[in-house]
Amino acid sequence: MADKAYSGKRIVLGVSGSIAAYKAADIASALTQGGAIVQVVMTDSATQFITPVTMRALTGRTPLVGVFDETTEGEVTHVSVAENADLLLVAPATANIIAKMAHGLADDMLSTLYLAAKCPVVIAPAMNTNMWTNAAVVTNVDRLKTLGHRFVDPAEGYLACGTIGQGKLATVDEILSVVESVFEGDKVTDLAGLRFLITAGPTREPIDPVRYLSNYSTGLMGFSIAEAAKERGAHVSLVTGPSEVAIPHVDDLVRVETAEEMLEAIRARFRQTDVVIMAAAVSDFRAPKSEQKLKKSAGRSRTLELHETTDILAEIGKNKDRQVLVGFALESEDLIENARQKLQAKNLDMVVANSVDEENRPFGEGPSRVRFLLENGSELPLPLMSKPEIANHLLSYIKENLLTQE
Ligand SMILES: Cc1cc2nc3c(=O)[nH]c(=O)nc-3n(C[C@H](O)[C@H](O)[C@H](O)COP(=O)(O)O)c2cc1C
Repeated sequence: MADKAYSGKRIVLGVSGSIAAYKAADIASALTQGGAIVQVVMTDSATQFITPVTMRALTGRTPLVGVFDETTEGEVTHVSVAENADLLLVAPATANIIAKMAHGLADDMLSTLYLAAKCPVVIAPAMNTNMWTNAAVVTNVDRLKTLGHRFVDPAEGYLACGTIGQGKLATVDEILSVVESVFEGDKVTDLAGLRFLITAGPTREPIDPVRYLSNYSTGLMGFSIAEAAKERGAHVSLVTGPSEVAIPHVDDLVRVETAEEMLEAIRARFRQTDVVIMAAAVSDFRAPKSEQKLKKSAGRSRTLELHETTDILAEIGKNKDRQVLVGFALESEDLIENARQKLQAKNLDMVVANSVDEENRPFGEGPSRVRFLLENGSELPLPLMSKPEIANHLLSYIKENLLTQE
């Protein structure tokens, strides 16, 4: 996760039928990892080169292909996607799609969506050298440039047709840096002046000198929130349990091991904080720690006595004054009921409800489906989203619904 200017931006990635279409997978993946919300739109020809399944797996969203594959009830997909886009990136762009864009044709999803879009457009062509230098293509490219569209010109190199010349799709890095430059200076700093305290990761409760009780949390959710809050200008304190994942750069980083240590770190910072987001998966139980390593004893079973750890949320909920307090609820059954109960019992302002079941695995990098529940009874179910997307939605939701009330 890096500090990208396109983080949180809605990017429509148009893929057309070039031999370089497979490189669109790397572009989609890099944009998604950089925090962009990527909606792929493919021409029919593009699907001959790379499958929508691949693009869906990389972006967490089903690619749009046919104009008549309307997906959302009550919406005309090409219009709603175009209206919400912050950027349309066509990569690779064939001579054919460039011609359609230059002349206002709208006979497939990508060209139709292009006409409905008002956002900036970046085009990365790829084609045989003779095609690229053909007067008709040159005229079409010039025409699109006069409309203010940015081109990432193809490079010279070995082409799939067996010749060497200009026509090779620009590198992923070059394309991404042009995308980034579109958003430079456009960074949202709507959280400037606010102090966030974010917890992440699991805790570990030692059983003996070599074993512990813990859970599958990777820390990614909390890290995504910390990173997004920092990018949006907040002062961020991050209290994290043990994690294998790269920790984002924040103002104040505290690494802890046990629930008790996490509580101490939070207590020390709570008063100066405006917003507390508890994304850590704090162990509910601990066992009395044995000073020596527990040994097997001739096949006899052993009982581990579990004690409840201090309920961190309840503890800080009791002491809250002006702070906005957000918890996460991960449940395997009765999600909404349990999450609402948590909201009330712990004096929270908001809960992010996350179910764990066959369809939704909230741990790790994959996308997940969450629902925001507010203390005033309102509720917002979100579609399947990556963690950076959830993070940005959560921060916007807090900013618009909880912080403005003060
Ligand atoms: C193997 C193969 C590779 C192709 N590569 C390109 C290419 O790199 N650039 C291009 O403009 N057209 C290329 N074409 C031709 C396009 O696929 C063709 O013009 C198609 O109509 C483009 O449709 P689209 O623009 O709707 O995707 C290729 C065709 C084949 C069969």
